[in-house]
Amino acid sequence: MSRGLFIVVEGLDRTGKSTQCAQLLNHFTASGRKVTLMKFPDRTTNIGQMINSYLQSKTELNDHAIHLLFSANRWELSQHIVDTLNGGTTIIADRYAYSGVAYSVAKGLNYNYCKNPDKGLPKPDKVFFLDLPPLLAQQREDYGEERYESLEIQTRVRSAFVQLLQDNQYIHKLDVTRQSIESVHQALKQELTPLLESSQEPLRHTLFM
Ligand code: TMP
Ligand code: MG
Repeated sequence: MSRGLFIVVEGLDRTGKSTQCAQLLNHFTASGRKVTLMKFPDRTTNIGQMINSYLQSKTELNDHAIHLLFSANRWELSQHIVDTLNGGTTIIADRYAYSGVAYSVAKGLNYNYCKNPDKGLPKPDKVFFLDLPPLLAQQREDYGEERYESLEIQTRVRSAFVQLLQDNQYIHKLDVTRQSIESVHQALKQELTPLLESSQEPLRHTLFM
C-alpha cells in the first residue's frame, strides 16, 4: 500500500483556503482516494483552546509564548499525521508551519527564530500559497473578526510569506485575484496531477524552512 499525500494550503486570512481545501476533499473522495482534512490551529485540543482564546482576544499572551503554542499544536498532532499518511490516507491541511512563521514575523519576531520550533515536523509533499492582495481580502465577508485581521497586519504577513516563498522554492504560489472558486480548484488539481500519478517516497520527519 502506498502512503497518502500531505498537501498544505497557505495564505492570508480570507483568501479562500478553507473553500479550496473542502473542494479538494470532495474531489479526492469522489475519485476513491482515502483523504482527510486537518486545520491548523486545531482548536479542539487543550493547546488549541488556549490559541483560540488568544485569537478571539479573550486572553493576552507574550508573542514568543503564542508562537511556541502554535508550533506545539502542530507537534501534538505530528504522530497522527505520520500514522495517517503511512496508513494510506491523504491529508489536506488548511495552514501549517508556514503560517506559523509568517504571522509571528509580521509581529516583529526574528525570522530565523520563528522557523526553529517547527523544524523536524513531517514535511508536506506539496505546499500552495493562495495569493490575494490584502486590500481585496479585506473586502470579503466576516473580515476583522479575529486578531490579525487588519490591513496593516495582513500586509506585513504577506511580506513575510514572500520571504518564505523566496527561501523555499518548492512552495507553489497561485495568484487567486479575480479567479473563480472553480478556476482555482482546477489549477490546484492540475498542479497535483504529477504527484498523484507517481509513487511516494517513504515519509521522513524532515521539515526545514
Ligand atoms: P484560521 O483563520 O485559519 O483559523 O487561523 C487563525 C489565525 O491564526 C490566522 O490569523 C493565522 C494565525 N496563525 C498563526 O499566527 N500561527 C500559526 O501557526 C497558524 C497555524 C495560524
Ligand atoms: Mg482567520
